[in-house]
Parts: sequence; C-alpha cells; structure tokens
Amino acid sequence: MNVPHKAAGTGDAGRVASVMQEDRLFPPPSAFSQRARIGSLEEYRRLYEAARTAPASFWDERARALPWMRPYDTVLDWQPPDAVWFRGGLTNASAACLDVHLAAGRGEKTALVWVGEPTGERRTLTYRELHAEVCRLAAGLSRLGVKPGDVVSIYMPMTPELVVAMLACARIGAVHSVIFGGFSSEAIADRNNDAQAVAVITADGGWRRGAKLPLKANVDEALTKSPSVRHVIVLKRTGQPVSMTAGRDRWWHDVVDGMPCDTPPAAMDSEAPLFILYTSGSTGKPKGIKHTTAGYVLWAKTTAEWVFDLRDDDLFWCTADCGWITGHSYVTYGPLAAGASILIYEGAPNAPHEGRFWEIIEQEKPTIFYTAPTAIRSFMKWGMQHIEGRDLSSLRLLGTVGEGINPEAWIWYHEVIGGTRCPIVDTWWQTETGGIMMSPLPGCTPTKPGSCTLPLPGVVPEIVDAEGRPVEQGQGGWLVMNAPWPGMLRGIWGNDERFREAYWSRVPGKYLAGDNARQDADGYYWIMGRIDDVLNVAGHRLSTIEIESALVSHPSVAEAAAVGRPHEVKGEAVAVFVTLRGGEPNDALKDALRKHVRHQIGALAVPDDIHFAAALPKTRSGKIMRRLLKDVAAGRETVGDTTTLEDYTVLATLRGNDE
Ligand code: WTA
Repeated sequence: MNVPHKAAGTGDAGRVASVMQEDRLFPPPSAFSQRARIGSLEEYRRLYEAARTAPASFWDERARALPWMRPYDTVLDWQPPDAVWFRGGLTNASAACLDVHLAAGRGEKTALVWVGEPTGERRTLTYRELHAEVCRLAAGLSRLGVKPGDVVSIYMPMTPELVVAMLACARIGAVHSVIFGGFSSEAIADRNNDAQAVAVITADGGWRRGAKLPLKANVDEALTKSPSVRHVIVLKRTGQPVSMTAGRDRWWHDVVDGMPCDTPPAAMDSEAPLFILYTSGSTGKPKGIKHTTAGYVLWAKTTAEWVFDLRDDDLFWCTADCGWITGHSYVTYGPLAAGASILIYEGAPNAPHEGRFWEIIEQEKPTIFYTAPTAIRSFMKWGMQHIEGRDLSSLRLLGTVGEGINPEAWIWYHEVIGGTRCPIVDTWWQTETGGIMMSPLPGCTPTKPGSCTLPLPGVVPEIVDAEGRPVEQGQGGWLVMNAPWPGMLRGIWGNDERFREAYWSRVPGKYLAGDNARQDADGYYWIMGRIDDVLNVAGHRLSTIEIESALVSHPSVAEAAAVGRPHEVKGEAVAVFVTLRGGEPNDALKDALRKHVRHQIGALAVPDDIHFAAALPKTRSGKIMRRLLKDVAAGRETVGDTTTLEDYTVLATLRGNDE
C-alpha cells in the first residue's frame, strides 16, 4: 500500500499535491487491546455509526454522567453555525471535575502529582484536597466581587494553583482566559482589553530553565494599558521581590485565608461561557476562542477516555502548559472529569539537564505520556545518553499533538520511549475544536506513522475543494467538518462577524478547519499543513501578520514580511524580511528588532532569521509574494510562477543580501 502524506506545496484552489510514501502499519498490541475500553475496530465502527446516525441519543447517554442541577430539555439545537447543546440544563464544570468524585467516594484518590522545576520539589493533591483549594479560591474571588460572566485572566507558571485558578473561576461561573507565561506585557494588555477582564491571577514569578520569569512585573506593565482590571491575585512562587499596589493587588494566601472548603458550585447554563483562549488567525489580532460549559466538558472527558483509554490506576502526563488548549482539555478538564490522576511538571524539559523528563518518568511512573513532535525532535537531538539506563517501563501509551509528526520521529518515539510496546496516538485537533477530533484509538486502530488515522465518534470530516465539492479519494484539499460536536467553539469573543467569516463562509454551512488534508485508500487522514498565513512554530500557532505588525511598529522599520522556513526541531522557524525607514542594517539593529518582537508579543514569536532588504517582492497589485520569500528563507531555488512579480530585480537582490 502506498500512502502519500506530505504536501509538496499548497495551491490556492484548495487542491494540494502530495508526495512522500509511508506504508508501515502498526497494529495495536493484543495485550493492550484486551484491556482497552474500545478493543476492536467493530466496536469503534458501532460507536461511530451510532454517533453519526443518532447524535442526540448518543450524546444524551453520555451527558448523564455530568452533574446536572437541572436536566436539559433538548440535546442539540443546530442552526449553523450556532449550536446549542443541552439546552435548559444547569451544571458546573468544576463540579464535573471534583464534586462528582467526592460524591462517589473517591475523594482520597490522587488527583494531581506536581513536580517543580527546582530539583526535589514535589506535591500531591487528592481530589478532596484539590476540591478544598478550589472552593477556597472560589470564595475569595466572590468576596472580591467577581461575578458569574466576569472574565478573569490567568497568567501563571505550571503549578497546581494554575489548575486551581481555572477550576475556581468555573466554580463561580467566571470566565477564565489563560495567557501563556511566555507572552509579553503587551500581549497581556491586549487580551485583558479585548475580554474586558476584571481580575488577573498571577504569581510573583515562575521558574524557566533555572531563571525566574518576571510574571508580576509583566502584569504590572500590562495594567498600565488595561484599565478594566480591578483586582490582582498574586501567588508566592519564587519569592522574588514584587511591587504590590494597595487596593488592587493581594497575595493568594491572603485571599484564601479563612475561606470555606465547601463553596457550592454555581448553577451555570449549559451554554454559559467557560473560558476564552486566544489563538492566532490570519489577521494581526488574536482571536478569543469561546468555549461553553456542558458540551466542552463532555467532549474533553469523553475524548480523554476514548483516546487515552484512562483506567483507575493510570497516571497521565500531558506535558502541555495550561496556557494552550492542550493544557485546558488534557491537563485540567478532560482527565479530571474522567477521575484520572494527572502529573504536572513545572519547568523546561532540559532543566537542569536534558534527561529531566526521563528522570521524572523513572521517579513518578506515569503510564501515559502525551507531548508534542517538536519536543520529540529535541529529545532525538539531545541524544541517547540521557535516556539509556532510565527505567521507562511504567509507560503503556504515548501520544502526540500540535503538528504532524514526521515518520522518523514517530519510529524513534515508538522504539526508544515506548520500547515498541506502547501504541502511539497522533491526535489532530485545534483550539477551536475543544478536544481531539481525529486520532487512533489505542486498543483498536492500526497506526501509520504520520497519520492521525480516523475521526472519533461524533466527528464527520470531509475534504473539499475551494468550491466546497468533495475531492477524489487520495487528493488533497481543505478539511471541513460536516456535523456539530459538543466541544466545538461557540464563537470568537466579541466578534460574531469574524467567527462566521473565518470558519463558516468559505465553505458555507461547514466548519473550515484551516488545514489541508488528504484521505488514503484505508480512509486514514493525513494532515498537510495550514491553508492560511498561520505558522506552526514548535507546535504553537503564530500569525505572520502579527509578527509583521510588531516589526512595523518599530521606528526603524518601513515594511516587513514574515514567513516560515523548515526547522529541524521546531518544525517551522520564523524568517522575516525587513525594509528600513532609517538606521543601519547591522547586528545591533537585528538585536533591537528581536527585543522589540519579544516585547510586543513574547519570546515565542522572536524571529530566527532577520533579512534586511532594499525592497520586498510584490505583485503588481502590491501584495507581498510570500511564496518567493519562503523559497529565499529556506535557501531554495524559486520555482513556480513569478510573472506577476512587479520588480524582478528585487528577488535577485534579496538572494544577494542573504545572510
Ligand atoms: C496543527 C493544538 C497535524 C494543525 C491542539 C491545527 C496538527 C493546529 C496536529 C491547531 C496533528 C495539531 N497533526 N497537525 N496531530 N495537531 N495540528 O489551535 O495545523 O494550537 O490546525 O491546537 O495545529 O493548533 P492549536
């Protein structure tokens, strides 16, 4: 069987050519299948057909496991693009993650094992203890005047308190907006302003590769530009000095002091917003993706159970930060709603040494490990000496997310980390989808390195061309969803028009994922990259236009173009082309521009390569020809059509300037 899986290039018409061949097939180990929740393809197909043909009864059956304070009247009302799941029901996401387990007599089960970046720091919390912490902070937030529907930004290191903060907001019906700790004060201010956040929960600092991140100082700077924030709650984590503004800033330990351990969960409408999470789209302004209560929690829980085959004795380690959707759905809501035990590590995989993850696995014995291909490529690069001699035998299942995994890395992961006994689930999904959409089920789906295989029950994908017509099997095209699912986004915060435009208009009535994909002869899906100007750098979405806007806001820059170029570890690296308004094109200016982008967006967007150019290649209508710049950035010969190029000499000059 020949299974092409990688894009050779993307075409504007929604059709994509694919080249590489991958024909290895890995059936699930029978020992795994025998104990799995879904142990055969027949069982998968039965579930898939049930969800497809009778979604209401399928989801009704599963939604009964959520704690309902008032039952819903209808399972689904679908007026594309608006879905109402479980209309009329009242529930609470923190109760679904905590109270249900206490009520079932599982309060003494370990909910969370936490390992700090500084060696030797470790804490565990049972479900009862986690519940108590959440209740205390929830009461503290209410006492400060935070009300249901208010937005609370969370800008914290990966500590148990980050999970507590999310669940405390959920408990009182406040909407959390977690901002990744790597974002700058400008990015915090933008998000606070867009969401009109009333409070920020942060920490004095956070550990990152032995250094202390100035989290509180970043918040202080952000608040000079985001006046809606009335309260700041500060966790003491690193002990570094911070300034506290009287009347606005309070220590976490003071806020929870004397607060009750049994704050009742607010009865929230099924469709009440649970959180906003900002992600990059194809414009300069990040989108606040809105997720709501009942459907999201049900999707996170159900997909966690299916894909990770969670059992009572599992310890689940998802290495994502809660600043990203993966940390929302598979650190916090999914596994906790499923009653699993989660492992959280605060720091970097190479702190204090490049074998830190394997040391943690040896010590804590997680059974499931879920990480990103970019991390796997780093491990490969760092070398076997960090892994040899480590006992990784606790692992029974491996997963990946965030970008496609190249077959070489897949095989390495399978052999070196999984000891050839662990199935690998390559999970395709997005901030917008709320949870995993396509993935092998580890007990039944034979895997092919580089393919996210088949859709989960409830997911009805299709591959279409730019006219919305299904492409022939084997042909690349746009990935769309043909049916609503409980975890789907419910909008872009404050921007209904952009929601409709970005996801529902190009192929009317269908959800446009923004990825190219193809389906092979076995019906397996192969993701082929984005259709828009969104980069995937180390598994993080970055908009080229956001980076360009940041650069152009520097006084020396006249014009800028950002493109991705292939990178061995990060998948894509950011290359920028800059024309100057003034100043000398030298290394000092490069440093200044890098610093500027770090300040405007954050360290994750800092360009890897900066090319100074006298002019940028443009079409006659003035559009920057990114395709050509991509070739220059990657050091490739320019192929394809350059007939619309306004000034042929620009390209030659750019190559001459290449540094
Ligand atoms: C990409 C992360 C190939 C894809 C959960 C998607 C993937 C974007 C995979 C979403 C995968 C994610 N194979 N590509 N298994 N998983 N992607 O919103 O382009 O940060 O659209 O969500 O990452 O990124 P986001």
